[in-house]
Amino acid sequence: MSTAREPRGPAHSDRPAWTDRVENPYLHGIHAPTVHETKAVALDVEVELPRDLYGAFVRNGPNAVHEPTNLYHWFDGDGMVHAIHFRDGRATYCSRLIETKGLADERAAGRSIWPGIMGPFDFDLPRHYLKDTANTDLVFHDGQLLALWYMCGEPYRLDPLSLETRGVASFGGKLRTPVSAHAKVDVRTGELVYFTLADAPPFMRYGVVSPEGELAHEIPIDLPGPRATHDITITENFSILHDFPLFHDVGLQRRVKHRIARFHRELPSRFGVLPRRGAADTVRWFDFEPGYVLHMVNAWEEGDWIVMDGCFQPDPTIVRRKQEGHLASMLGYLRIRAHLRRWRMNLVTGETREEQLDDLNVEFCLPDTDLYGERTRYSYHQHLPADMYTVDFHALVKYDHEDGSCKRFDYGAGRVGGEAPFARRHGSADGGSPGNGEPDDRGRAGAEDDGYVVTIVTDARDESSSCQVFRATDIERGPIARLPLPHRVPTGFHAKWIPGERIFTD
Ligand SMILES: [Fe+2]
Repeated sequence: MSTAREPRGPAHSDRPAWTDRVENPYLHGIHAPTVHETKAVALDVEVELPRDLYGAFVRNGPNAVHEPTNLYHWFDGDGMVHAIHFRDGRATYCSRLIETKGLADERAAGRSIWPGIMGPFDFDLPRHYLKDTANTDLVFHDGQLLALWYMCGEPYRLDPLSLETRGVASFGGKLRTPVSAHAKVDVRTGELVYFTLADAPPFMRYGVVSPEGELAHEIPIDLPGPRATHDITITENFSILHDFPLFHDVGLQRRVKHRIARFHRELPSRFGVLPRRGAADTVRWFDFEPGYVLHMVNAWEEGDWIVMDGCFQPDPTIVRRKQEGHLASMLGYLRIRAHLRRWRMNLVTGETREEQLDDLNVEFCLPDTDLYGERTRYSYHQHLPADMYTVDFHALVKYDHEDGSCKRFDYGAGRVGGEAPFARRHGSADGGSPGNGEPDDRGRAGAEDDGYVVTIVTDARDESSSCQVFRATDIERGPIARLPLPHRVPTGFHAKWIPGERIFTD
C-alpha cells in the first residue's frame, strides 16, 4: 500500500500532484514522473554543434501517470520517450508518452487498474496481470521505432520524428506472442532477432523478423522452467539465448500473488547457441559460472569460437535490508553489482572459457549498435557507486576491450547520467576519418570510435536536465556540448542512436 505523508515544502509543478502523497524514492526528486509532454522545441546551443552529429538520440523510461494502487516499483511507470534530433548544427527536443492499451484503459477509468510488479497480482485483469507499459527499450526497425517491455509485451510502433504512437506491430499479422525488450537489429541483413518468455511451457520462444517487417522464423526453446532472461545476443550467423539461475517459482507466484526471484547458485549460467534461423533442435547449450546478466555488450565469431562480452553479476542474491522498511524488497532487487566479463564458446570442441575483464561496477552498456554481431573494440557504460540507495549513474565509462583499459568521466557531484549510445560521425563511412583504415565490407573506413556519445544528465540540486555530447575518442575531457532541456527528464532506462539518413527524409 502507498504510504501517506506530510507534504515536504512547496509542490513541484512538473510532476503529478499525487506524488506528494506517496513515499517512494522513485516518485520524487530526479526520479519523479513529469507531467510535461513536449512538441519539438529548438534547444539553445552555446556553440554550433558539429554538423556531422546527424540523427536522433531516443530514450525510453517509466513515467507513472496515475497514482499507484500498490507499492510503486521503478519498473512500473508508463512508458515515455524523450528524443533529441540533431541536424545542421542544431538540436530539437521532444517527449511523449507511449499510448499503450493499458494507459488508455486507465485514462478512461481515471485511475490505476493494474498493480505493479510488487503485487499483489490480480490474474483476472485483461491481457496480463501487469500493465504492458512498453517502457523499457527502443529499437529502430523497418522505418519505425519499436518500444519494448522487459516483461514481454506488444511492440508499440512510434514515429521516430514526432514520437506519436501508431499502434502495435503485428509483423505481417503473424506475431502470436509478446516480445521481450532487447530485441537486436542486424543492420547488415535488416533482420530483427527477438525472444519472449512465458510462465508455462514453452518457457521461451525465439523469432526472426524480416527486413520488411514480416515474422520469418519462430520456434519454441526447451527450458527446464520459467526464466527472468533480460537480453539476447547475435553474431553474424548465430543467436545466443541466455538462461541464468535467477528465476521465480510460478506456483508460489500464483499463491502469494507476488513475483519472488531466487538465486540458485547450484545451477550454472547457460548460453544456447543456434543458427540465426535454426530449428529448435539445433540449440547447443554451454555451461558457465552461476550468476546473472542484465545486459550484454556484444557477441561475435572468431574462427570456431563465439566471443561474448557483458556485465556479469556473480552474486545476484536479493538482499533485503530491514532498515529500508516497506521499500526493502524493491531496493534489494535494484542493487546492481556487475563487472565486465568475457565468455568464449567453441562450436567444434565444446570448450568454454570465461574471464573477468575489469572490476568496476558498470551496467547499461552499449557498443556502436550498428556493429551488433561483429567484433567490437569499444563500449560505453554507466558506473554505479557501490552500495547505492537508488540506481544512479555517476560516471560515463568507455572500455577498450582489446587492451582492457577504460576511461571515464564523472558527471559531477549531484549529477546523474543515463544510458549513452554511440553516434557514428556522419560521413565517417566515406573514409574521411582519422582512422584511415581499410574500408570494411560496408565501406566504413573510420576508426570504430569515430563519432560522439550522447546522454541526458540531471542535476539533483536544481533538478535541471541537459543533453550532453562527448567526443567518443575523448570522453574523459567531458562534454563538447551541454544543451539545457526545457524540463527535467526523469531517470530512465534504455537509449539508442538512430543515424539521420534512416529518419530524415527531406
Ligand atoms: Fe534492459
